Amino acid sequence: MSISLNPSQMNVALLAGGTSGERDISIESGKGALQALQEAGFNVTVFDPAKKDDLKALIDGNFDVAFLCTHGRFGEDGTLQGFLELIGLPYTGPGVWSSATSINKTISKVVYKHANIPTPSSISLTSRHQYSNEHIIAAVGEHCVVKPDTEGSTLGITIITKASELDAALDEAFKHDRTVIAESFVSGTELTVAVIGNDDPIALPVIEIVPSHSFYDFESKYAPGGSKHICPAPLSEEQTKLVQDLALQSHKALQCSGMSRTDIIIDGMTAWVLETNTVPGMTATSLLPDAGAAAGISFPELCTKLIGYALEK
Ligand SMILES: Nc1ncnc2c1ncn2[C@@H]1O[C@H](COP(=O)(O)OP(=O)(O)O)[C@@H](O)[C@H]1O
Ligand SMILES: [Mg+2]
Repeated sequence: MSISLNPSQMNVALLAGGTSGERDISIESGKGALQALQEAGFNVTVFDPAKKDDLKALIDGNFDVAFLCTHGRFGEDGTLQGFLELIGLPYTGPGVWSSATSINKTISKVVYKHANIPTPSSISLTSRHQYSNEHIIAAVGEHCVVKPDTEGSTLGITIITKASELDAALDEAFKHDRTVIAESFVSGTELTVAVIGNDDPIALPVIEIVPSHSFYDFESKYAPGGSKHICPAPLSEEQTKLVQDLALQSHKALQCSGMSRTDIIIDGMTAWVLETNTVPGMTATSLLPDAGAAAGISFPELCTKLIGYALEK
């Protein structure tokens, strides 16, 4: 099903900013999406959910839809989605439950496993000293990745190769979150696969991420020249199908609607899902708009589709 829209008749509340560690990136996404939405012909007003007055303005603002560029906590985690549900304003991207599950790496891995989606072995900690270091290393190996459960954009993540580095990695991750996950390191090519749609979602062309640092850290994600991406990724047809299927399965297992973008590592025909993002970056050079472009969908068209999915669900 697709909805036909008349953008010039529609008032869009574009939400960007917020209070998460990804606030600055969200503001950049907002600028990118604003331009694309205006190009598509929508009437757009920008709001920052970090401001109470902006939240109040949304309640009585007579908007048709909220376009979310809010990454991370309180923006991508179901909280803002719950507020929008309460005030009856349709919004882009996944709903409350799906957002809350997807942002949490421990809980989303429970869902992946239940759906037979391969994901690296892991152990989760609900407090800093819940397990001994020996226990953690026995579960995931010395070469592992320690991450806060719900922070995005690689904030607080450390890759370690020796047990002696574990304490510092856990201390760092617990600075960002109350729960932390340690995951076995998997080596291979890093990919991300965007999926759009509601009942019959489609996977967009696969993107390969080529970091200039040792891994796809905060700087390589956002500094100019920090990373390159190649779309479509130079994979075999079988590999492309494998990872597109995994992204679709992840989107469905997490009950995403509208959009999602799943991070995957592939080595030959073995692939692991790392995580699913429900409010991906939205600057003109971000991964989702780039994957759209490779599928022949311009950024303004992509934004229009996302609004269509929001109104359809
Ligand atoms: N298990 C892993 N094995 C290898 N590299 C990993 C692993 N987990 C994370 N990474 C690296 O760290 C980056 C960020 O991890 P990710 O789980 O995507 O969290 P987020 O993007 O939310 O910060 C990944 O893009 C990848 O480069
Ligand atoms: Mg990621």
